Amino acid sequence: MAPASVALLLALLGFLAAAGQIAERTTPDPRSQPTVHGGKPQHEKYAGDAACLSCHQDQSNSYVHTAHHLTSQPANKDSILGSFRDGSNVLMIADPATAGDDPGLYFKMEAKDSGFYQTAVAGWPGQLQRRSERFDIVIGSGVRGQSYLYWHGDQLYELPVSYWSDGSRWINSPGYKNGTMNFSRAAIPRCLECHATYIEPRSPDPLTNQYVKASLELGISCERCHGPGADHVSLHRTKASAPAGLTGEAILNPAKFSRDRQVDLCALCHNGIRSQELVPAFSFVPGKPLDNYLLPNEGDMAAHPDVHGNQVGLLEKSRCYLSSPNMSCSTCHDVHQPERPAATYSNRCLTCHQVESCGMSKTMGHKIADNCIDCHMPVEQTNAIISETAGQVMRPKMRNHWIKVYR
Ligand code: HEC
Ligand code: HEC
Ligand code: HEC
Ligand code: HEC
Ligand code: HEC
Ligand code: HEC
Ligand code: HEC
Repeated sequence: MAPASVALLLALLGFLAAAGQIAERTTPDPRSQPTVHGGKPQHEKYAGDAACLSCHQDQSNSYVHTAHHLTSQPANKDSILGSFRDGSNVLMIADPATAGDDPGLYFKMEAKDSGFYQTAVAGWPGQLQRRSERFDIVIGSGVRGQSYLYWHGDQLYELPVSYWSDGSRWINSPGYKNGTMNFSRAAIPRCLECHATYIEPRSPDPLTNQYVKASLELGISCERCHGPGADHVSLHRTKASAPAGLTGEAILNPAKFSRDRQVDLCALCHNGIRSQELVPAFSFVPGKPLDNYLLPNEGDMAAHPDVHGNQVGLLEKSRCYLSSPNMSCSTCHDVHQPERPAATYSNRCLTCHQVESCGMSKTMGHKIADNCIDCHMPVEQTNAIISETAGQVMRPKMRNHWIKVYR
């Protein structure tokens, strides 16, 4: 048997240790086990998004359409974007019917009464082995793609097949070796810390995938950025007849943080290189320095930081940012609104620059006013999330947040 077949069969039998299979993007250094400060982060003082809606309709009505809100959902026919229709529900890696020395492998996505399933079928005709797991949780709003998680008891794992929006197709989950059927990749707390509101891990080990299942809250809630809001809600409910102009109490408004703390809030999830956790997931409180919580991984600070998920690191390199003490992510983004087309952001540049300060205005005229972005924040391919599927390599494209002259 060729080595590839051995690996495949081991994976089939579930022998591949979960620890070796964790997403490269998120693996914290196991030597830096966190010191636990009194166990799990407090989670009682949270009110939930529905509570905010009654008083903050402006923010809430648009927020439900944002990628943050939609970034994790229960799996169902609306949330799973991939197709279960015959003809487009198979990811063929190597057809078992024509398998030679190496075994064949394909994945089939099926809608059944009991839910939606991924089934791996591997081997040779007459000796086929199958493994089926249910789609339980959808990760990703689908801007670029989605990955899926399944429960095995109280353990959470990533499914081997993901969805790719470009071409609306099924692909190998990023980081999975092509040709293997691996169901043993653990979904660690940090994964959900960036993509959900809350889950209670059963242990402080940053590599655990055992959780209190019922504690899971999907989507990124208002309170991830505004802090626990239960007191704020009850306070304002009893003050319902209070005079207009009353300022919010017992709630955090990031606009009132220093610039560094504002950017730290976004950096919790948008600074790819920070991954060494000092305290358990879900203990970060908006307004506090991120340095007390996450450290940059040494060695990752390459001269050309990758564009994936590192908007903070890249923006911080920009002269715009270095020379403007008040510039933050909010200069361009309103996180309560869905993303706008890139070109519309040019008016943000023009709050500080003039069309004439760009050398290109001499040759191209005023029409550059509508598109500062494509030249100064170009879209580039990332090397951080790669999916290799049956010989084809896919890399998502990201907007580079290092604002400068590209030649
Ligand atoms: C019973 C009504 C009520 C509910 C429910 C409510 N708020 Fe408020 N909130 C207010 C009022 C009144 C203010 C002050 C006036 C304003 O800014 O609109 C306020 C202000 C705020 C501010 C600005 C604070 C500042 O310092 O500038 C934020 C942020 C906020 N609320 C977030 C939330 C979040 C998040 C929720 C849900 C957990 C929520 N609110 C639920 C009534 C409410
Ligand atoms: C708890 C983690 C978390 C925090 C905190 C966070 N983000 Fe995000 N953000 C995400 C994730 C995850 C996505 C990708 C969502 C998806 O498409 O599934 C995202 C997507 C985005 C997008 C792209 C939206 C789109 O429609 O493509 C923008 C812009 C963004 N975030 C800005 C911010 C800003 C600005 C802040 C700080 C005020 C912030 N985020 C804080 C996790 C976070
Ligand atoms: C440090 C925070 C962080 C961690 C950890 C993280 N992600 Fe993400 N993820 C993001 C951000 C931010 C984006 C938005 C794209 C970007 O900026 O790179 C994203 C994008 C995605 C997307 C594409 C979403 C879309 O709508 O296109 C998927 C799928 C995804 N992540 C899955 C996962 C899974 C599964 C895990 C855990 C095994 C994970 N991510 C861990 C922050 C994180
Ligand atoms: C990803 C982080 C994030 C999420 C999620 C988020 N907010 Fe905000 N919110 C901010 C930031 C940042 C500001 C300050 C914006 C600025 O600088 O003007 C803000 C400001 C506010 C304000 C102050 C009023 C104003 O416009 O200045 C209110 C009220 C508010 N948010 C309510 C909500 C509600 C309700 C939700 C959920 C439906 C929510 N926010 C979700 C980051 C977030
Ligand atoms: C908050 C104000 C502000 C915003 C918004 C802003 N910039 Fe800047 N930008 C500056 C300042 C200040 C400098 C530095 C000028 C200097 O040092 O002479 C600068 C520098 C630059 C440079 C020169 C960079 C280099 O490395 O030499 C370019 C190009 C640029 N900005 C383009 C843009 C574009 C395009 C946008 C919109 C995507 C933008 N800026 C948004 C303030 C801003
Ligand atoms: C000078 C304006 C500007 C600033 C400041 C800015 N962004 Fe963006 N951002 C953009 C533009 C333009 C896009 C592309 C939007 C689109 O394609 O629709 C974008 C896209 C994104 C996306 C989606 C990923 C992608 O590649 O499409 C994320 C996530 C994001 N920004 C996060 C942040 C965070 C976090 C900060 C603060 C560190 C920040 N941005 C600061 C202009 C800005
Ligand atoms: C077609 C591509 C393109 C577009 C569109 C464009 N730029 Fe430029 N920009 C350049 C190039 C190339 C340079 C450097 C050459 C030069 O200065 O003559 C430059 C130079 C600049 C500089 C000066 C940098 C320095 O070192 O002093 C600023 C500021 C700037 N652009 C801002 C903008 C703004 C704001 C917009 C939108 C109104 C814009 N640019 C649109 C390509 C472009």
